Amino acid sequence: MQVTRRSLLRTLAAGSAALAAGTVPMRPEPAYSRPLGPVIAPVSGETVRLDLIAAERQLSLPCFAGRRLPLWTFTDAALPPVVRLRLGDRLVARVENRLPRAGEHISIHWHGIRLPNDQDGVAWLTQDPIEPGEAFDYAFTPPDTGTFFFHTHCNTVEQLGRGLAGILIVEGDETEPYDAEEVLVLRDWRVGDAGFLPFMTDEGASRAGSFGPIRSANGAPAASFRLPASADVRIRVLNVDASRLLSLGVEGAEAAVVAIDGIAVPPFPLKAWTMGPAMRADIVLRTPPEGGTARLVDYRPAKPFLLAAISTAGPPRRTGAFDPAPLRAARIAEPDLGRAERLPLTLSTTATADAVSAALEGPAGGIDDLCLSDRTFWALNKAAWPADGHRRLPPPLMVLRKGGSYVIEIANTTRQIHPMHLHGLTFKVLRSNKRDLPVHHADTVLLLPKERLEVAFVADNPGDWMIHCHLIEHQETGMMGYLRVA
Ligand code: C2O
Ligand code: CU
Repeated sequence: MQVTRRSLLRTLAAGSAALAAGTVPMRPEPAYSRPLGPVIAPVSGETVRLDLIAAERQLSLPCFAGRRLPLWTFTDAALPPVVRLRLGDRLVARVENRLPRAGEHISIHWHGIRLPNDQDGVAWLTQDPIEPGEAFDYAFTPPDTGTFFFHTHCNTVEQLGRGLAGILIVEGDETEPYDAEEVLVLRDWRVGDAGFLPFMTDEGASRAGSFGPIRSANGAPAASFRLPASADVRIRVLNVDASRLLSLGVEGAEAAVVAIDGIAVPPFPLKAWTMGPAMRADIVLRTPPEGGTARLVDYRPAKPFLLAAISTAGPPRRTGAFDPAPLRAARIAEPDLGRAERLPLTLSTTATADAVSAALEGPAGGIDDLCLSDRTFWALNKAAWPADGHRRLPPPLMVLRKGGSYVIEIANTTRQIHPMHLHGLTFKVLRSNKRDLPVHHADTVLLLPKERLEVAFVADNPGDWMIHCHLIEHQETGMMGYLRVA
C-alpha cells in the first residue's frame, strides 16, 4: 500500500486507539469516516416483467477463442442477463423450459433474496419442477437492495456449468451517487478441446471441486473497464463459479468493500477478500488520474491473476482523500444474541469421502476399485442428503420458531473449504475461530478447514429453507439439508 502523508496521519490516529486497547497494529489501515446511511423504505412499486427461456443455444464468448459451444442460457445472449429493479419493484418472471434433454427439469432459485417460500425455486421442496415444455411464473418483491443472482437448483453442476444463470440487482442503496458502475461476473468453464468436460468428477466432488480450465471475467479472459479519471466507481463483483475460490484484490488504486452478498457493510479497505462460489462483494474504487491504469486481481494463484484491467479518461471527478460513500443499512431484523438459541451445524465427510481421498492420495488406479454408486461424500449433522431425497424428502435439520433469534455454530471438520449458503434468511456473521472477519450480513459464508464460525439471524421468514454447500459438487453429493421455520 502506498503511504501518503494523509493516510499516515489517519493511521497514527487509528494506531493510538489500538495501542490504548492493548494491541499493536501489524499493518496500519486507513479509516473511513462515514457511517452507513439510514434505511430506506421501498419506494417505486412498479412491476418489472421478465421472460426467461431456458434452452440450448450455440453461442460463443471471447474466452472460448472463436469457438461456439452448446450453452444452456435464459436468453439469446451467452452472458447471463442482468436484471435491474428498484427497491419496492415487483418482479414477475415467466420461466419456460425448452431444454433439449428429456427429463431435464428446472426451477429458479433467486439467490440471496428473502422472498416467500413458494417462490424460492427448490424442486420438490417449494415447487414442482418445471419439466421440458412447461412454464412457471414467479412473482415477488425483493425486500433488500443489493447484488444478487439466480440459477437453477437441480443438476446445477451441469445447468450452471453450461451457463444457466442471471444477475439480479436491486437498486436504491446509495447514499450519494458514485461516478460510474460496473458489474464483474467471474466464472470458469469446464471446456476442453472436445467441448464440455464432465461437470462432476469423483476427485472434484470428494475434494475441492472440478475446476474449469478456462477462466472468465464477463465472458472474456479478463474484463476491461474504461472509467472516468480520479472517480469513485462501484464494481459489483460476483463469483458465480461452481467451484472456484478467489481472493479479490486491487493494484494501482485504493478500493473499499462496501457490501457483502449485496448487503451494506461499513466500508473497509480491500486487500484480499476471499470469495467462494456464490459470494458477492460490492467495492468502491478510486480510479487513477487520466491515462492511469489499475487492476483487479485474484491473489489466490501463485502469481496474481488479472480479473479486470481499468483505464481512465476525462477530467478528474474527485479531489481529496479516498473516503468512499457508504451504502444504506439494510432492513434486516437484529437477532437478540442474549436470548438466542444456539444450534450446531457440523460439516463432515461420509466414510466414502475419506476412502476416496485416501485412494486419490495413494497410487494411481485405486479409485476404480471403490464402490461409489451412491456418490455421497458429504454430510450435515451426520446426515447426507439422500440420493433420491427430492422425491422422498428427509426430515428438516432443524425446526425454528418463527420470530425467534438463533445462533448457528457451524463447525467444519473436513479438510476442504465449504461456502455454506442459507436460503430465505440473511444471517449475520459474528465470529470465526480462525479469521478476523468484520461482522457482516451474508447469505453464503466460507468455512475454512477446521474452522468454527457463528452466524445469527431472526427466523422471521416462514417455510422450508435449504442450507447447503455452494461448491455444487459437494452440494450434489450430500452436503445439503433444510431448516424449517414454523
Ligand atoms: Cu445459490 Cu441453494 O443456492
Ligand atoms: Cu462444500
